[in-house]
Amino acid sequence: MGCQYFEPCDHGADTFTVAMPRLTFGRGCLEEVGARAAARNFTRAALITDPYLVDGPYVATVRASLAAAGIDTAVFSDIRIEPDDATAEAAAAFLREGNFDGVISVGGGSSMDTAKAAMVYALYPADTTDYFPPPVGAGRPVPGPLLPHIACPTTSGTGSECTSVAVIRLTAHDCKFVIGSAYLLPDEAIVDPACTDTLPANVVASTGYDLMCHALECYTARAYTRWDKVEDPLKRPPMQGANPWSDMSAREALTIVDRFLERGVADAGDREARDQLMWGATLAGMAFGNSGTHLPHAMSYGVTHYMHDITTDGYRMQSPFVPHGISVVVGAPAIFRFLAEGAPQRHLEAAGFLGADGRGATPDDAGEVLSSRLVSLMRATNAPNGLSGVGLGAGDAAAMAASVVRQRRAIGNAPRLAEQADIESLFVAAANYW
Ligand SMILES: [Fe+2]
Repeated sequence: MGCQYFEPCDHGADTFTVAMPRLTFGRGCLEEVGARAAARNFTRAALITDPYLVDGPYVATVRASLAAAGIDTAVFSDIRIEPDDATAEAAAAFLREGNFDGVISVGGGSSMDTAKAAMVYALYPADTTDYFPPPVGAGRPVPGPLLPHIACPTTSGTGSECTSVAVIRLTAHDCKFVIGSAYLLPDEAIVDPACTDTLPANVVASTGYDLMCHALECYTARAYTRWDKVEDPLKRPPMQGANPWSDMSAREALTIVDRFLERGVADAGDREARDQLMWGATLAGMAFGNSGTHLPHAMSYGVTHYMHDITTDGYRMQSPFVPHGISVVVGAPAIFRFLAEGAPQRHLEAAGFLGADGRGATPDDAGEVLSSRLVSLMRATNAPNGLSGVGLGAGDAAAMAASVVRQRRAIGNAPRLAEQADIESLFVAAANYW
């Protein structure tokens, strides 16, 4: 394994645990939701989706399947994309009043993360921030199991169907934070790539950047052996750093991005590419659900905190709105160039999986090789040109960095320490790339 990445160290973890939902993947498998819910003894299901999908064909398929299985269903769709605590609390009230014995989420990360957070608030009421980590929350552990949850992604990026986290915008801070617990992992993931057939090109691009960064961050994360060993095995965190399982999934996901991202963006009729990207998103979710992401995701929350007067074609969202995948990728070339020093061999390998030509490259070149490949992929898929492409500039860097330092766990999962001054410099370096 590259660079003795998993070599034991004093007081470091020597064991990792893999957590996965039961996974079903294939064109048309949304029709299986009813049978799978019935097998889990659902009698009355809460179906959580977003306002853009609620009257569309995927929700109709799921509802018909549930009805055929004799399962009573009530729908909640009053969620905002990039859900906030008000969304989660409203969904929690819906769950509390509905007498449900199971939850089905249909949509992107917004639907799945709302379902996860809403179950926490519904079953274990507390102050809004109690379950979020410091410094914004009390870091209270989620006390126990949630309702059985079947997650059905409709975009090829989030991976939330395979993870134990939910990302929620806390209104008081106007910023996104992560709530995590092993109890948040869905019980089943039903992944139907046909859901991506009608996605516009730039949505496929944005979600593709998200899956790519999930995989890159997993592969380059601080190794699990560099996190402290936990005495109680049941307290081992789901996001435990780079590990052989996450490596395996991330490697394949990066290969898929290299082969199919440009094709999937260029041609909505290229079903092979869109199927592969959906599988890549699932693999990357399986990877980061067990390793965690790091600095590019942490810094993306600075972008969405300070974005102003910006919208993106293909998204029916009011300004300001920068899609999650774009908020991550605009910083990625600068960030990986900086981080490579902490794990050069890993960055070189990752660049190779992504199709970079690393012939003759030395460890000192790792950051440049990976960064260059990212920029070429971004240009080929019409990504914004760094932070300036989403309306931000060097003048925003200090405020964004001050916001980002609160994402402690993710920053700590990076292969190299980044202080607030480093993060500010990285935002400046990410202003534009070409
Ligand atoms: Fe993400």
